[in-house]
Amino acid sequence: MEETTLVLIKPGGVERNLIGEIVRRIEARGLRVVGLKLMSAPKALVQEHYAEHKARPFFKDVVAYLTSGPVVALAVRGENAVKAVRAMMGATNPIEASAGTVRGDFALSIDDNLTHSSSDVKAAKAELKLWFSEKLPR
Ligand code: CDP
Ligand code: MG
Repeated sequence: MEETTLVLIKPGGVERNLIGEIVRRIEARGLRVVGLKLMSAPKALVQEHYAEHKARPFFKDVVAYLTSGPVVALAVRGENAVKAVRAMMGATNPIEASAGTVRGDFALSIDDNLTHSSSDVKAAKAELKLWFSEKLPR
């Protein structure tokens, strides 16, 4: 099934000049970038994005991290894009992420794990709406 998913390159990834590397991996896999922007995410947007984690102890910190510098928001499309991208990014905790994944290759700590990607098709739909209010190409 063709799907579109949201990827965020978090401020740590932008700071470390990993935009190109991450986009390269996505494109090399055969997935297509159909939306891309560099932005300073408003706090309210990030709070809404992570609403499912509102009651978690790390909520404040993750919101602070996502608003600490510019992020890159990507809409990524292709066959099974949601699962494919999740797998490419690796486990949430980089210490558990396999080599060959973005987190396994470039990150060491859960609070600086470089990327976000939508967890399922339903989340992807909601998140794309949140981050790309403009229309994406069909
Ligand atoms: O990003 P992912 O979907 O893999 O993980 P999540 O469980 O949805 O958590 C969202 C984000 O919160 C993570 O990517 C981390 O940046 C952060 N987090 C954290 O700092 N400490 C935790 N114990 C869990 C998550
Ligand atoms: Mg998540």
